[in-house]
Amino acid sequence: MSATPIPPRLEVQSLRRVFDGQPVVDDVSFSIPAGQVTCLLGPSGCGKSTTLRMIAGVDMQDAGRIFVDGKLICDTVFRVPPERRAIGLMFQDFALFPHLTVAENVGFGLKGSAAEKRARVEELLGKVRLTRHANSYPHALSGGEQQRVALARALAPRPGILLMDEPFSGLDERLRDDIRDDTLALLKDEGTAVLLVTHEPHEAMRMADEILLMRSGKIVQRGAPYNLYNAPVDRAAAAFFSDINVLKGRVQGALTPTPFGDFLTPGHADGTEIDIVIRPQHLKIDFDRAGRGPNPTPQDGTPARGIVERARFLGRESLVEFRMEFDGSILRASVPNVFLPKPGTPMWLMIRRDRCFVFAA
Ligand SMILES: Nc1ncnc2c1ncn2[C@@H]1O[C@H](COP(=O)(O)OP(=O)(O)OP(=O)(O)O)[C@@H](O)[C@H]1O
Ligand SMILES: [Mg+2]
Repeated sequence: MSATPIPPRLEVQSLRRVFDGQPVVDDVSFSIPAGQVTCLLGPSGCGKSTTLRMIAGVDMQDAGRIFVDGKLICDTVFRVPPERRAIGLMFQDFALFPHLTVAENVGFGLKGSAAEKRARVEELLGKVRLTRHANSYPHALSGGEQQRVALARALAPRPGILLMDEPFSGLDERLRDDIRDDTLALLKDEGTAVLLVTHEPHEAMRMADEILLMRSGKIVQRGAPYNLYNAPVDRAAAAFFSDINVLKGRVQGALTPTPFGDFLTPGHADGTEIDIVIRPQHLKIDFDRAGRGPNPTPQDGTPARGIVERARFLGRESLVEFRMEFDGSILRASVPNVFLPKPGTPMWLMIRRDRCFVFAA
């Protein structure tokens, strides 16, 4: 006897949406198990909200199917209406009802006896730490407190799935990380499957178990935050998560020669133009010793000299821009803490071979 596998809470198969002849969501498939937070991450206009709206049932796909707990809820013929999907929604403009108290807002969509409703509202207000504001009206709360009320309201009916569209974007920058962490703890506690839409990589890295990186209607890469950051599929995917430096080269044999020495570039035909992509924190910096730099090593390759153009202290790190002597281009290096060499100082840069990414240009 084999146990029946548990179907994912939410599954989306080959979802497609076309506006004016243009596909804005194109063959999107993914699934989310209970208790997992998946972030749909991508630049403005890539089709994130459209994907969410089809799952919520407020927009209809042109192709593809949506399943909840293994049951079909929507294809191009059959469609469970939005109010019967047991899917919670929380959008950027999470308008609370201004004439209802905090407790009434949270209890608004609840069914069941008065005692059951009261118990659920109390439970959630406790979890979002707003018990003492139960009888306040929304206008008397801070932005962050209002956001927590909206979250409690969305979770009150125990939706198996919660769809969140840029839910933190209206909040003060300094508040956001705390509220993200609180929200995440509550979502995990409730065991909800969450699809969170954001265009901020920092937010996706902080919140997601899995990231779906979307571009022009398609999912171009998926995986844990660590994998997307450390093994991007292409130059644009690398650039989405941080500043990058790009070194150009052309393959000769299995190597690409550059001013920083030869890079191994197997799998690319002779003559292929190559982008070697390096994040600023993976450039190594060394001092100039009367015109000489450090000796080349297999890990760091050959050093190349640059002149400090500008150095800025950013709090956790310093960002130093070098004008490279080999072609006059700018490379950016970031260094932990305070490192502010004077403009005009010559220094040597090296590229850690295990931390750069190689793509065909
Ligand atoms: N009802 C509509 N009619 C025509 N075009 C639409 C419609 N809704 C969305 N679009 C287009 O589809 C594309 C994707 O829109 P969508 O709102 O899904 O983007 P998004 O990824 O959520 O972007 P943002 O981060 O700016 O919210 C955009 O080019 C948008 O103009
Ligand atoms: Mg959107």
